[in-house]
Amino acid sequence: MCGIVGYVGADRALPFLLEGLRSLEYRGYDSAGVALVEPDGIRVHKVAGRLDRLVEAVQDFDGTAACGIGHTRWATHGPPTDHNAHPHTDCTGRVAAVHNGIIENYRALKERLVARGHQFRSETDTEVIPHLLEEHLKTVPDLARAAQAAMRELEGAYAFLAVSADDPGTLVAVREASPLVIGVGTTSQYVASDLPALLPYTRRALVLDNGELAVVRPNGVTLYTRAGDPVEREPFLVTWTAEQASRGGYPHFMLKEIHEQPDAWADCLRGRIDGEGRLLLTELGLEPEDLAGVRLLQFVAAGTAYHAALIGAALVERLARIPTRVDVASEFRYRDPIWAPGTVVVAVSQSGETADTLASVRLAKGRGVPVWAVTNVVGSTLAREADRVLYTRAGPEVAVASTKAYTTQLLVLTLLAHALALAADRPTGTLLADLMGLPHAAASWLEGDHGIRTVAERIRSVPSLFYIGRGVDYALALEGQLKLKEISYIHAEAYPAGELKHGTLALIEAGVPVVAVVSGPSLLPKVHSNIQEVKARGAWVVGITTDRLAAELTDVLDVVVPVPARDERVMPALMALPLQLLAYETAVARGLDVDKPRNLAKSVTVE
Ligand code: G6P
Repeated sequence: MCGIVGYVGADRALPFLLEGLRSLEYRGYDSAGVALVEPDGIRVHKVAGRLDRLVEAVQDFDGTAACGIGHTRWATHGPPTDHNAHPHTDCTGRVAAVHNGIIENYRALKERLVARGHQFRSETDTEVIPHLLEEHLKTVPDLARAAQAAMRELEGAYAFLAVSADDPGTLVAVREASPLVIGVGTTSQYVASDLPALLPYTRRALVLDNGELAVVRPNGVTLYTRAGDPVEREPFLVTWTAEQASRGGYPHFMLKEIHEQPDAWADCLRGRIDGEGRLLLTELGLEPEDLAGVRLLQFVAAGTAYHAALIGAALVERLARIPTRVDVASEFRYRDPIWAPGTVVVAVSQSGETADTLASVRLAKGRGVPVWAVTNVVGSTLAREADRVLYTRAGPEVAVASTKAYTTQLLVLTLLAHALALAADRPTGTLLADLMGLPHAAASWLEGDHGIRTVAERIRSVPSLFYIGRGVDYALALEGQLKLKEISYIHAEAYPAGELKHGTLALIEAGVPVVAVVSGPSLLPKVHSNIQEVKARGAWVVGITTDRLAAELTDVLDVVVPVPARDERVMPALMALPLQLLAYETAVARGLDVDKPRNLAKSVTVE
């Protein structure tokens, strides 16, 4: 999510730190900062906003530090302010740290540290790190050992860099699931969360594994396991260009972001479900009193977020039996809605800046109606204006076509439905455990080849195609066709499978491709006969369905793309993967600019 850089060596640290942060800008960020180990102590410069503001802030700084750390922050805990920007320091200002990822148990650690007299200055989870290091430095001789002790207490997925004024030639790097790479030079060593920052300086790199700690000094790097045993590893030679490296080796950001989904889902769920499998409401962004008295959930959203809202609403009705309405924001704002007592507006928006969604929120607020936001951007206008915020934690999304932001919206909305169900005394069975299993299921599925490229080759030159499904699968079909239209420019239309015969069936003739979305068994016989209807008219039918249901549909499908079967209630996120990949492969087969489709913008801030 965030960008980390570090330097220790023979030269001044600041130029590398700023250049390194510049080359990590593509990851997205909302604030930036550096900490420099000067002869008279650590100097921190940090600002909310663009990197240029940081460059301006250090313009007249004439420090000489040859060791330092830097950071571009993508807010997850606390809005993007100067205070919340990294680096963070301990109480004495002699230890500084930057961090990427999420510290799951930061609340408990913070309480313990506050009880021991530590003073916190930010709302971040990160700040526990320098204070923990300070605490351990009271009993261990150096920063590396303090970091090792801290590793044993920190829970979550994270990477951090730390420096100490008492050990000016040492930088400590720790990796626990979030990426961290060291660029190995002769008299200078470079650390970053991603390769592009290192490539102008060195092509010899060492990738830290999970649970490893690196002690980085000007003349070299020593790696240790969590237990403190040294690790022998030779640097490898990087052959990627800086541009390839910024996409993690993937040809497009969209493909990278599709593959980031298992991690994004894990981040999204992290810390929100306790060891006993219970949902932690506060971590979700809600309080118990929020749930009492909800009589109607009114969802508003645009584009892909609207499609996520449709699925969220269906789950709320199914699990909590609370009525819902779902509107496209640009329609909602002008349709003079009826505000029934007990209505809560749920605004879903990746960016939190979509003009129509914000207008709908302001309409609700003007009527005194509570607004809950589901968004990916901490500190966005929506996050600031809503009464409650449920963050999706997908990390920055660069490709215009939304993928990981959409599926994390599905997860957060499932958690919301679960919370409302429990408040209504309606058990949800194994729902949370099933959700927790999704990142692993997605990761294994993404490793396989499911014949999607062959399907893409077949549809790349058709003038038009259809996506059909029933219930939640219709909402998935809507997202599948939108994704395809956005990036492949092929006309596609989603239809409720049972509605086809009321008109659209007239368009089905020999060879017309139809993508049938079938995620669960509940309406299988119905959907089977709907597919039969198109098949009988010569359609070429691609089934996106589960490995279990595939056998029941073989007689009506020409091609099957199977996904692993899970509880129907958590299937949508898994089903989205082949739909995204089909759109991606089709656009690639047509030779189009996948990440920047024509006429479209990532965030639509005008009406
Ligand atoms: C634009 C983007 C879509 C997005 C929609 C709503 O059209 O291209 O990917 O779904 O806006 O954006 P939001 O940020 O509110 O989710």
